[in-house]
Amino acid sequence: MMDKSFAESGTKVNKVKKGPRVVVGLDIGTTKIACFVGMKNEHDKIEIISMGKSESLGVMRGVVSNIEKTVQSISHAVELAQERVAGNLKINNVNVGIAGQHIKSIQTRGIHTRKNVLGEIAQKDIDALIDDMYAMVMTPGEEIITVFPQEYIVDNEQGIKDPVGMTGVRLEANFHIITGHVSNVTNIRTCIERSGLSINEIILEPIASADAVLSDEEKEAGVVLVDIGGGTTDVAIFYDGLIRHTAVIPFGGNVITEDIRNGCKIMLKQAEQLKVRFGSALVSESKDHEIVCIPGLKGRESKEIRLSTLAGIIQARMEEIIELVRVEIRNSGFEKKIIGGVVVTGGGSQLKHLPQLFEFITGMDTRIGYPTEHLANTNQIESISSPIFSTGIGLVLKGFEKEDKHNSLDNVSGETEIRTHTDPRKRGSFFAKVLSKESFKKLENFFRDEDE
Ligand SMILES: Nc1ncnc2c1ncn2[C@@H]1O[C@H](COP(=O)(O)OP(=O)(O)OP(=O)(O)O)[C@@H](O)[C@H]1O
Ligand SMILES: [Mg+2]
Repeated sequence: MMDKSFAESGTKVNKVKKGPRVVVGLDIGTTKIACFVGMKNEHDKIEIISMGKSESLGVMRGVVSNIEKTVQSISHAVELAQERVAGNLKINNVNVGIAGQHIKSIQTRGIHTRKNVLGEIAQKDIDALIDDMYAMVMTPGEEIITVFPQEYIVDNEQGIKDPVGMTGVRLEANFHIITGHVSNVTNIRTCIERSGLSINEIILEPIASADAVLSDEEKEAGVVLVDIGGGTTDVAIFYDGLIRHTAVIPFGGNVITEDIRNGCKIMLKQAEQLKVRFGSALVSESKDHEIVCIPGLKGRESKEIRLSTLAGIIQARMEEIIELVRVEIRNSGFEKKIIGGVVVTGGGSQLKHLPQLFEFITGMDTRIGYPTEHLANTNQIESISSPIFSTGIGLVLKGFEKEDKHNSLDNVSGETEIRTHTDPRKRGSFFAKVLSKESFKKLENFFRDEDE
């Protein structure tokens, strides 16, 4: 996949035993599949060094419905991401997202009675408690995806955030547990395996998006993350720095496009273009005299559509979605405590006047969440700052978070051949656009060090 000019102009080929700290996020969305490759720079900040995107053809409402088509889309996105790195990066291991209406969350409490009562509570006691939760018996057809410990309780002392170093016999914790249908989780696993990849971790999509767009202060203050995708609207509520509530609403931007198609009697493609270019979530912001002309089918007259009519269709459906988000905020029990407001992200968040409608219905401050919040070098990666990439970038951030915890994640295969070039910018590739001079140097030095 190296172009000829690249191979001929002083390419340096190094064999490396161990790869750089690279983490890959794969977002299997309803409308697109996006693969992001992230790397830490010399300041320990995460940069996205490559990405590949393909149209998603086998996913409905966030759930894989056609394995073969999904595998094709995954392979295409991964190949693009690999090609755009200046080197033969072989992606093996990915963090993958999961969403869909089958996702449920439960609150429960777990207990671990310690054997060594004289010693201090260690990380292994917490790990044992968490492992016990993963082993919890689910109703048939359901499986646990993630277990989030919240507050701990040591011998009846409540509200402990980190019990390591304390003494006590009974270690308890409140847990937020995410479950999903076994068949849907299996389909994701099958798609990844058939694409020649392996899974590092399956992560709930709104949790990943939240990592990309929310600040730590917002999570502390209490905030509602809403990711409006094509097929689903995902909700994650944080308070006191912890995840408190998650939900997946089975409607997203695509249902709005369908409404426009049916309401205006036009083709689906035209409806999508109309929504993206002229759509608004507020009728009151559209002027009655503004009209857009849609060409008619062969031999038929063109159609005139008032922008206020278009906004009326969009607002009606958007209000319905926001009402469902509001129900989730109420169900969380944190409605009165949240002071960080709402952060909307995902493709649907780009709809004009959407934050205003959110504020109007929920009474909460609303902002749009862009996924570059925690990335270094954002000026070089203009194209990936779109809210449609929040989940994919969040999956990369989650991978580094896990790596920081366990400090042992290695994404590049054992004997990977990496080619470095004297001047990567000459390739004119995505890599050249997104990778700063410093981080390129770091990549180069890394391989040199390994070679020596
Ligand atoms: N400028 C825009 N205005 C309104 N809607 C938009 C705009 N840009 C994109 N969208 C909508 O965003 C949706 C796609 O968003 P996104 O890429 O986040 O979804 P996805 O991740 O593929 O799907 P999901 O997360 O539901 O599985 C589509 O419905 C699209 O019409
Ligand atoms: Mg999505």
